[in-house]
Amino acid sequence: MMNSLLQRKSSKSETLLNEAKKIIPTGASSVMRTRIPNPMFAVRGRGSRVWDVDGNMYIDYLLGFGSLINGHCHPRIVEAVKKQAEELLMSGTPVELEIEVASKIQRVVPNAEMVLFASTGTEATMEAIRIARAVTGKTKIIKFEGSYHGHHDYVLWSVESSNPGLEISPFRIPYYPGIPESVGKTVTIAPWNNLEALRKIVRRNRSNLAAIIAEPVMANNGVILPKPGFLKALKELAEEADALLIFDEVITGFRLAPGGAQEYFGVKADLATFGKALGGGVPIAAVTGRRDILENIGPGKIGFGGTYNAHPLSLAGASANLDILLANNGEAFQRLHSTGEKLMKGLRQAIDDTGVEAIVQGLGPLFQVYFTNLPEVTSYREKLQTNSAAYTAWALKMFEKGVYIYADDGERILLSTMHTDEDVELTVAAAEEAFREVKKQFSLAA
Ligand SMILES: Cc1ncc(COP(=O)(O)O)c(C=O)c1O
Repeated sequence: MMNSLLQRKSSKSETLLNEAKKIIPTGASSVMRTRIPNPMFAVRGRGSRVWDVDGNMYIDYLLGFGSLINGHCHPRIVEAVKKQAEELLMSGTPVELEIEVASKIQRVVPNAEMVLFASTGTEATMEAIRIARAVTGKTKIIKFEGSYHGHHDYVLWSVESSNPGLEISPFRIPYYPGIPESVGKTVTIAPWNNLEALRKIVRRNRSNLAAIIAEPVMANNGVILPKPGFLKALKELAEEADALLIFDEVITGFRLAPGGAQEYFGVKADLATFGKALGGGVPIAAVTGRRDILENIGPGKIGFGGTYNAHPLSLAGASANLDILLANNGEAFQRLHSTGEKLMKGLRQAIDDTGVEAIVQGLGPLFQVYFTNLPEVTSYREKLQTNSAAYTAWALKMFEKGVYIYADDGERILLSTMHTDEDVELTVAAAEEAFREVKKQFSLAA
């Protein structure tokens, strides 16, 4: 049963948040977790559902920011982690499981001639950029405005700013204080899906360009698909400039297809980074790439390290997660797409029925609702024109009705293989009510 507006309680979550704020800045160790006004301390998860400390149950579309591709606490993942914990928790030596998980990745990811493990997506993109700089002997990277590649200084530029400048030479804006301008000088910003501008920016920077890094589907300002041919053009432009193409597949990897966006769109990157859905809930990330590039890693050459890299518990969880995902010729991905498409269709119908001015865009396992009169959002600049306040109000209303969607249209709606047709029906019914309420509040007639 869904929680109704009147039933939902939040007293314990609110008390805990106040307690937490006394000792942890903002109340949680990631500003994303308390940035929106719906304090929710989770205690239990099963399949597509998550429960909070007050006993409320939600259909979960946050899914650990994309990690829980097989839902909460999949019994095979839990069992694998438990078994490993009893055998070897940690060693600091190589373990056989590392070869096993690397081989599973290599079987499906198009560019995975070699594989390296890290613990987070942040580390993976940081290492990939360093490797690209080392092997090309050049320094600059091109990064797209509105994309997010983790929490290190190389990439925390023009993630979210209301003033991006001219398309032909976008401003480069640090995301936070504390990020040195000297690092910024190694980063050039380009607008997403604007090939003409990108071509000029690449040519302007080619003599010192080490890499172009892109989320193949932009998924950190809602979900913005690449225009047809755009990813292929990225590859050609990188090649022309003797630079590497890095696909940051931390969100698209093990979500769009067994081989991620590289398989889905048929474009192979020189290096690719994975995290989130690779582990199904355990902390693990990977860098995959061409053998001739990754063979340059070693003592006295390019370094690669981390105490927790290829942690036995994470490898055990990831191995079970991949077995579930890759069984029966990737049937799980058909399910992710078909359930997601049903949900997108239901939400579009609810938008039509309520006459609210909004669109739904993306792909089944990964999509977003934008409150806008645009027929499509194709760039960060267009995203800036959407009504983000209406989205936040809508998502908070969904939350009150028992559907957990992060209340910021910069995030996205994510599916797991455990979401059912019943979840879709309940979500669409809640969404229709929420659209009606938001339309009244914001006068949003189409
Ligand atoms: C595309 C992308 N790359 C990298 C990262 C960083 O991953 P992590 O949070 O595991 O460090 C994220 C996280 O949201 C992401 O969305």
